[in-house]
Amino acid sequence: MCKMAAVMESGEDAFKQLFKFYKRRKPPPDFSEVVDFSGNLCADKVVPMKLNATAVPDAVTSRVGLRPVRDWRAFGLQGYPGFIFISNPFRRGSQRYWIRQCLKTYPQKPNICNLDMHMSPCDTQNIWERSVHSLRAPSPPRRQEKSLLERLRWVTLGYHYNWDTKVYSADHYTPFPVDLQSLSQQIASGCGFSDFKPQAGILNYYRTDSSLGIHVDESELDHNCPLLSFCFGQSSIFLLGGKRRQDPPTAMFMHSGDVMVMSGQSRLLYHAVPRIVPAPQELLTTELLTHPTPTEGQNPPETGSVLEPVSEQDWTVCLRYIQSSRINMTVRQVLGAGQSFPQS
Ligand code: OGA
Ligand code: MN
Repeated sequence: MCKMAAVMESGEDAFKQLFKFYKRRKPPPDFSEVVDFSGNLCADKVVPMKLNATAVPDAVTSRVGLRPVRDWRAFGLQGYPGFIFISNPFRRGSQRYWIRQCLKTYPQKPNICNLDMHMSPCDTQNIWERSVHSLRAPSPPRRQEKSLLERLRWVTLGYHYNWDTKVYSADHYTPFPVDLQSLSQQIASGCGFSDFKPQAGILNYYRTDSSLGIHVDESELDHNCPLLSFCFGQSSIFLLGGKRRQDPPTAMFMHSGDVMVMSGQSRLLYHAVPRIVPAPQELLTTELLTHPTPTEGQNPPETGSVLEPVSEQDWTVCLRYIQSSRINMTVRQVLGAGQSFPQS
């Protein structure tokens, strides 16, 4: 019996067991059953998905750094209707912009981050500026106090998720970033959800030893709307389970640039990130280290592009950061069309 079969045999809370299996350090787990959408695909689990190539004009996808919809490599997973995995739909070089936004722009006010929970607003005003010096240093002096950027764990956007009460509320809202709104709407439209309204965002920042526990995202008031998830930097193992904790999850790799859409029957499934894994060298090198050519997105070729050039100085810091970190952004629609928050 293979190790995984042995782990599964006891039956109860199969999710927890597989979570522990993939989180284990010594000895490291066997990754041979992890679905890798960027590699050879297991035909009985992975189903290539045809998207509507005309859903978004090429000139529009290009403005947010995405390839034309017809070039997106989209997949479904056997047994998970509504789950869509898009293997890095970004144009070469354009992830730089989004990574810079996640590290330099989105942590800024009026958005909220974990550091605000125990620091005054003026101390969390310039997280980037206060951190770049130590992140640019050739090799950080030992025992040096971690920079604010290295202590960043989460940022919330739009309707700010309250981690204690697990609710969103009408009076805890700041404008959702327009660039991310545009990126999200185009991903959603490409997948057939042209009415998607990005209203809340949660950014998670992971170090190589971080994980994200088993959960369902159910705080949004309308569960018919899809939930989008974007990843940058180091790779991870993502576990997608069922409606019940006893349902054994499917493990898959998420690499930099990958996008997931949880919609329909997959919107309320248990999921978790038990482990961050090193990004395959060739993926990070081709997508991130390669200098984008002027026609490939760094210098916006399209009118109306939201992508601003990322300075070499900024990119040096981003690169240093993602060499040991992963960033995940989830974008959610909180309220259905015409819906409002209940009076409290
Ligand atoms: C979340 C989430 C998954 C990830 O933020 O709700 O499930 O890949 N994130 O980090
Ligand atoms: Mn989640």
